[in-house]
Amino acid sequence: MENFLSYLSENHRQCDQHLAELEQAVTANNWEEVKKQYQTFSLSTLTHFEREEQILFPPFEEASGISEGGPTSCMRSEHQQMRELLEQMKEGCQQQDQEHLYGLTETYMILVQQHNSKEEQVLYNMAEQLLGAQMASLIAEMKTHQAQIND
Ligand SMILES: [Fe+2]
Ligand SMILES: [Fe+2]
Repeated sequence: MENFLSYLSENHRQCDQHLAELEQAVTANNWEEVKKQYQTFSLSTLTHFEREEQILFPPFEEASGISEGGPTSCMRSEHQQMRELLEQMKEGCQQQDQEHLYGLTETYMILVQQHNSKEEQVLYNMAEQLLGAQMASLIAEMKTHQAQIND
């Protein structure tokens, strides 16, 4: 049966794949492709963050009784750091700055790997224990949620 861990880990793998494709385009110096791959990568990543922040975290916080200073507030602030890196990557793509983009994607990869392993090893298991009865409907809701990107 699909659960938070299997569904959201698959989301993580897809985002990783889009980042790898973006890096390949940067290495190839193909700036039309970089623009396209950046959009795919940022849309999938922002969609994933919103699925967690808007659909998973609120019932988690309610069921656990922990919001501020708890695991979800840590995850939200890491999402914020990664959103800032995404913005810097966007500028790097516009400026066609290969070296800068390599540095940013490297920093991003370190952050996202640490972040995802905390979610996959701790948070999603806690969510399954707290929200087991609502899991199928929350996953269905996450599947239909897409971030809106205005640019
Ligand atoms: Fe997250
Ligand atoms: Fe995640």
